Amino acid sequence: MQPLWIGTSWKMTKTLEEARAWTTALTEHLGGRAPEGVQPFVIPPFTATTTVAQILGQDSPVLLGVQNAHWEDEGAWTGEVSVPQAKDAGAQIVEIGHSERREHFGETVETTRLKVAAALRHGLTPLLCIGESAETKDAGESSAFILEQARGALEGLDAGRLARVVIAYEPIWAIGEKGRPATVPELVEPFAALGAEYTGRVQGLLYGGSVNLENAADLLGIDHVTGLFVGRTAWDVAGYRRLLEIGSAHAAG
Ligand code: PGA
Repeated sequence: MQPLWIGTSWKMTKTLEEARAWTTALTEHLGGRAPEGVQPFVIPPFTATTTVAQILGQDSPVLLGVQNAHWEDEGAWTGEVSVPQAKDAGAQIVEIGHSERREHFGETVETTRLKVAAALRHGLTPLLCIGESAETKDAGESSAFILEQARGALEGLDAGRLARVVIAYEPIWAIGEKGRPATVPELVEPFAALGAEYTGRVQGLLYGGSVNLENAADLLGIDHVTGLFVGRTAWDVAGYRRLLEIGSAHAAG
């Protein structure tokens, strides 16, 4: 059985000192071994990538990611970071198409497709985020919308490449301080739609958006969900450790 992917993006939070404290506490707790049945991952801001990589060390059970990367390998792209640069800094995962990037930084289906291809070209795992707005949900078009986002970003990939992709479904209305936690019944249909197309063909189908210690176990129980992508609850290392335990208990059945 594939491990449950349980990880966090820190978004634009944490100083280097805070990054060190979180990562040190986690590595000491894990003692070099992932919790049974779980694949942990952490996605710090770029400034902390090498710091976190050094603390995790070689062959860490915790995978390391970046929150974005450009589709070109190098060049005149002020303010951007390329996939080879991210890899050089220790990253194994590239987060692509988070709704905050789509909303504020012009990420489109086309740029997500280029970035997925770039990550795969350099042997990194693309973590593709998809999710619909409250308006799209209210119109009853959630599944059609997220399938279009996923198909657009993954277009043309052969089975081998597709098998390395991780998809995170994160409804925009459920993310962050202004979001409200999704209920299990609300997620059944979108995951059925995603599962029909991608279960067994990608590396993971994660849920994200206001995951907390109360709802994590129920969310993992939804058909086709194989992991959790978490913001606020995991920024405190104790919260993240608890989520890993919940994941491990779920994996053990
Ligand atoms: P949240 O963030 O868990 O703080 O809602 C989720 C995300 O944006 O991935």
